[in-house]
Amino acid sequence: LDQPDLSPFDIAREAAGQIAEKTGIDKHDIALTLGSGWAKAADLIGETVATIPATEIVGFSAPAVVGHVGSLRSVRLPGGKHALVIGARTHYYENHGVRRVVHSVRTAAAAGASIMILTNGAGGIRETWSPGQPVLISDHINLTANSPLEGATFIDLTDLYSKRLRGIAREVDASLDEGVYVQFRGPHYETPAEVQMAKTIGGHIVGMSTALEAIAAREAGMEVLGMSLITNLAAGISPTPLSHVEVIDAGRSAEPVISALLARIVAAL
Ligand code: 6GU
Repeated sequence: LDQPDLSPFDIAREAAGQIAEKTGIDKHDIALTLGSGWAKAADLIGETVATIPATEIVGFSAPAVVGHVGSLRSVRLPGGKHALVIGARTHYYENHGVRRVVHSVRTAAAAGASIMILTNGAGGIRETWSPGQPVLISDHINLTANSPLEGATFIDLTDLYSKRLRGIAREVDASLDEGVYVQFRGPHYETPAEVQMAKTIGGHIVGMSTALEAIAAREAGMEVLGMSLITNLAAGISPTPLSHVEVIDAGRSAEPVISALLARIVAAL
């Protein structure tokens, strides 16, 4: 993926081939990237067929952050379809390039997935939100100044976060709120002034992932469902300074509830 003359799509196809070989499953119908607080969903959506360390698949790297998993799982859903669960996310702030950030999404597409579920732990801008609350992503603002698309690929991003899938999620839980996700580069959290900027330009959620991945998923023709766990209120909204440990703890305590919610949404797809 670091060699500019190689096609990232060829490498994704190769990765998908390795996944098919190691899991015995030729086609994965949906894919889920499980961010902070969402990992338990892998156990709840169905029966695990195989777990593969991400490092065994071409293009994937070991997780850089405490609280992130580092494996790929094939899960058989109750209806007989298969889900590819991605517990290995390369973040943009790791500086490995945007190709690595979206490699898992392209691999999922190459593995046959037509639905991409992207989850994350993020900061909330709305004062009415509380840590531990899951919210649907309705749209995003990409503040990375980068794109996974190379060359003149002018794609439309209207309804990037599928209305149809959001509707299904709301049928499962009518109380689900939604908001616009703002992807910052990180890895530092935003200043209060940056949070005010995000609010002013129409954002409700601040995070360090998802937007670039969603763009790659749209390019690949997938339908996207995005969900954030609000692990904390963003800087300046929160009365106390932010800490990564608290973010991980908030994820941990919300995990059973939001993972069960996600499993019910997957069952309804
Ligand atoms: Cl406040 N900001 C960002 N960018 N990511 C987060 C967060 C805040 N809280 C959890 N993840």
